[in-house]
Amino acid sequence: MDEPHDFSLGDELEPHLSEVARAHGYPAPSDTARLGPMLAKLSEVYNTTDGKEAANLLPVRLAFSFPRDVPKGHAAVRELVATGALLPRADRPLRLLDVGAGLGAMTFGIVRALSRAAVTQGLASFAVDATWMDTDRAAMELGLELVRRALPDAATGPRVSVKLEKGTAAAAARTKGPFDVIVCGQVMSEMDAETAPAERIAHHATWLVDLSRLLSPEGSLVIVEPALASRTRHLHAVRDAVLAGKKLGVFAPCLHQQACPALASAHDWCHEDLPTDLPPFLVPLARSAGLRWQGLTFSYLILRKDGRTLREASARPLRVTSSLLRTKGKTELFLCGEHADGIGRGKARLLDRERTAPNAAFAEAERGDLLSFEPALASGGRLGTEMNVECTRYR
Ligand SMILES: C[S@@+](CC[C@H](N)C(=O)[O-])C[C@H]1O[C@@H](n2cnc3c(N)ncnc32)[C@H](O)[C@@H]1O
Repeated sequence: MDEPHDFSLGDELEPHLSEVARAHGYPAPSDTARLGPMLAKLSEVYNTTDGKEAANLLPVRLAFSFPRDVPKGHAAVRELVATGALLPRADRPLRLLDVGAGLGAMTFGIVRALSRAAVTQGLASFAVDATWMDTDRAAMELGLELVRRALPDAATGPRVSVKLEKGTAAAAARTKGPFDVIVCGQVMSEMDAETAPAERIAHHATWLVDLSRLLSPEGSLVIVEPALASRTRHLHAVRDAVLAGKKLGVFAPCLHQQACPALASAHDWCHEDLPTDLPPFLVPLARSAGLRWQGLTFSYLILRKDGRTLREASARPLRVTSSLLRTKGKTELFLCGEHADGIGRGKARLLDRERTAPNAAFAEAERGDLLSFEPALASGGRLGTEMNVECTRYR
């Protein structure tokens, strides 16, 4: 299996966050007493409303949400970058549009992913021209200060220039393109909350198709959403509506282009839960607000118009969509994708007494891994002792 590496931040952003906070008279990330209640409020705002009130909680968005969300942007594009479908360029700046940018956590995460790729490619430096669009100019301006302080300069790493545009996500489709990547991070959840569900799905699918007109021919449209069931199921439904229009295809996470199997049951949703913890300097703050610091949860969708897919690049037909389910005598996993008997989602099973070297990768798999079986596995199938299992983990 490919060697995994982590998305976790260390404490490297902490001094920059503290400096920007100090410049604005906000509490520093270490000021748990003042930030804890604000964080509890922010969490409630995001979990129970359309999030509009978050505009009044900028200090805690700076201290907590921003560093928590940078790894989401990084992890969401990991497969694009690992398969060469999104790479830093030596010949010109990469053009990025960040819709609902807030403080720019998605841009930071994508730049982080590209920086790692640049090291592998032996690129000494590269440039990113980012356009941020949000209705909240104050949030974007705070993020711009972070870009200036935290992102390396031309001599040592990426040159990132950012243009701010105050405007609605709906109006983003009228921006001047083209872009190599458009990212919409946790903004769809905040849009049109008062619209009836079916109408909202159709409306958001049209919005994404309109945005995709700004993509270069090989560009990617990356949508990141909270892992909450209702938000993620909305994303699944929007995905299906976009695919029905046949203008865009899914690059990831899905390994097929058919209707989302998770929507067949009212209780399923497909999301990430990566073993990436909060940076150590945020743990006391998370604890004080009763939030967890272990694991990185989000859902994502990557759309392209050139037909390029992760399925083709990875040669693995099935994605692990659950954690390992170990019970007495067996290990089970939910898998989604192309089974021997067709496309779908099913619970595959390996009996402990049938564990062998060829099928060992099954019992070590994690949510998000890509698997292939030789011979092909039927949906809900049981692995035999002779079955060969191969795994790819993009981290
Ligand atoms: C939860 S924050 C996410 C920020 C950042 N993209 C991230 O993922 O960390 C959502 C952002 O979307 C913005 N937003 C919400 N509705 C919007 C709309 N209709 N048009 C533009 N921006 C919007 C908010 O102002 C806020 O900055």
